[in-house]
Amino acid sequence: MKYTVVLPAAGSGKRMKADKNKLLLELFDKPIFIYTLEVFQRDPNCEGIWLAVKEEERSLMEDFVKEYGITKVAGFAVGGAERQDSVRACLKMIPACDVLLVHDAARPFIDAEVILHLAKEAAASGAAIAGVRVKDTIKKAESGFITETVERGKLWIIQTPQAFRYSLIKEAAAAAYEAGFLGTDEAMLVERLGHPVKIVESNYENVKMTTPDDLIYGKAILESRRQ
Ligand code: C5P
Repeated sequence: MKYTVVLPAAGSGKRMKADKNKLLLELFDKPIFIYTLEVFQRDPNCEGIWLAVKEEERSLMEDFVKEYGITKVAGFAVGGAERQDSVRACLKMIPACDVLLVHDAARPFIDAEVILHLAKEAAASGAAIAGVRVKDTIKKAESGFITETVERGKLWIIQTPQAFRYSLIKEAAAAAYEAGFLGTDEAMLVERLGHPVKIVESNYENVKMTTPDDLIYGKAILESRRQ
């Protein structure tokens, strides 16, 4: 199933405690976002990559894209203050296609099989998102005391990619913008229209490089894949 992918890459390094965009940090010898790009470069189903970047980092990122031979980048958009703004900036530029994926550039270990599964499900039902089952016991707490233990069997940790029919995500993003609704993922924009969203089981390696300990985990994943 062919698809186009949007990679929001216009974040900061705040939680990573880095003085620059965390995506420019290197895992061994390569910037994080290049690992992510390489997954889509290699995937024959990926027809084009759109990157949301910070204006001031655009030329640096463009240089890396060239240096690492990433030829599928179809365009760059200038990202916004929130992740949703960055995705929206790309959505405004992308020509119509069948299936559109949104994937955090900060998740470099995404599996090609999960991508394919998501694209197929989105083509069939409109929207499909990656997730993994919660392993730990989850409780709610207020003022330092437990108020509820949540039933774990129904809980999922949501990741990206999130895959959609192009027309559906365009409609959902436009409606959210009009209503001033800010979601923490794209699926929320679709959910609020009452459209079903399918969950596709992913894996725990598809971690988002967010805090310094994630870099240690990221290196361990790369080392295990090299063996
Ligand atoms: O900050 P966080 O890691 O949750 O961001 C997820 C992805 O969204 C990252 O790839 C980051 O670069 C991107 N992002 C963005 N624009 C923002 C904030 C985050 O493109 N304003």
